[in-house]
Amino acid sequence: MTIKLTEIGNQEIKKTVRTFYADAIKVKSETANCGCGSGCCAESSSEKPGKAAIYADPNFTQLPDEVTEISFGCGDPVTLASLEEGQTVLDLGSGGGVDCFLAGKRVGETGHVIGVDMTPEMIDRARLNLEKVGAKNVEFRLGEIEHLPVADQSVDVVISNCVINLSTDKPQVFSEIFRVLKPGGKLAVSDIVTEGELPDEVKKNLTDWAGCIAGAWDVRDYTDAIRTVGFENVLTKPIYFDKGLMTDVIKDLEGVANGTWDEEKLQQSVFSAKITAKKPSR
Ligand SMILES: C[S@@+](CC[C@H](N)C(=O)[O-])C[C@H]1O[C@@H](n2cnc3c(N)ncnc32)[C@H](O)[C@@H]1O
Repeated sequence: MTIKLTEIGNQEIKKTVRTFYADAIKVKSETANCGCGSGCCAESSSEKPGKAAIYADPNFTQLPDEVTEISFGCGDPVTLASLEEGQTVLDLGSGGGVDCFLAGKRVGETGHVIGVDMTPEMIDRARLNLEKVGAKNVEFRLGEIEHLPVADQSVDVVISNCVINLSTDKPQVFSEIFRVLKPGGKLAVSDIVTEGELPDEVKKNLTDWAGCIAGAWDVRDYTDAIRTVGFENVLTKPIYFDKGLMTDVIKDLEGVANGTWDEEKLQQSVFSAKITAKKPSR
């Protein structure tokens, strides 16, 4: 299971993650380049064709550059979720809003999309992007995914793209998702997980937490935690498109670069996955 972090450790991680993403969008805005030190960031901002490989959704290439250039995901949860007209969708860790805007297109005028993020700078940027996109059915709320600012049983589908790995309390996140979903509701996430345990020294590295590696759980622990809160039909599939990306991310980890960590072992054990689950109908 994951390393037991002290309460102070958890607060420190959260602060580091928040600062990391606030800085990442500043860097993105200033240079239009990838702001991530490692992990989550999909690709360089201006490489829309490259990102289209991650996003099967044809609406992705129609979004303004201001939106796609601050996409930090590791998959395409909107396509995974098979959204329908009229649904209410919640995106955990919505960042600049890319998946919210794609979800908004799918659920149409009668649907509604809520993005929640704990980084004020991200929420500000997402709201600017919202004005640019002009979506009437999307809103952004500042908040933590461990304490969702969302009513009980009010959501049809919860999506998330490369965020739950960053939480220091994943069981609490899964229990919040269960609370806000309507009976029969769906969970569809892309996230970084591992096959086997990461070395303790990786788990303790704050920069690698923010970069979506150090907080990643073994895929069996991750899916067991989803089942434990009451979900059924919990399914997981590795995503292969980003193997090259993960290879580079792992090469760049401080401990790999300075030869302290076993690169080959890390290369084999860290990957992006599609994870889906259903809340029982009653
Ligand atoms: C890797 S980025 C992904 C952003 C977005 N999903 C995307 O695909 O572009 C992680 C985002 O999750 C947010 N985040 C991380 N931990 C969070 C938490 N515990 N509660 C709410 N938001 C969180 C960060 O502020 C950041 O915007």
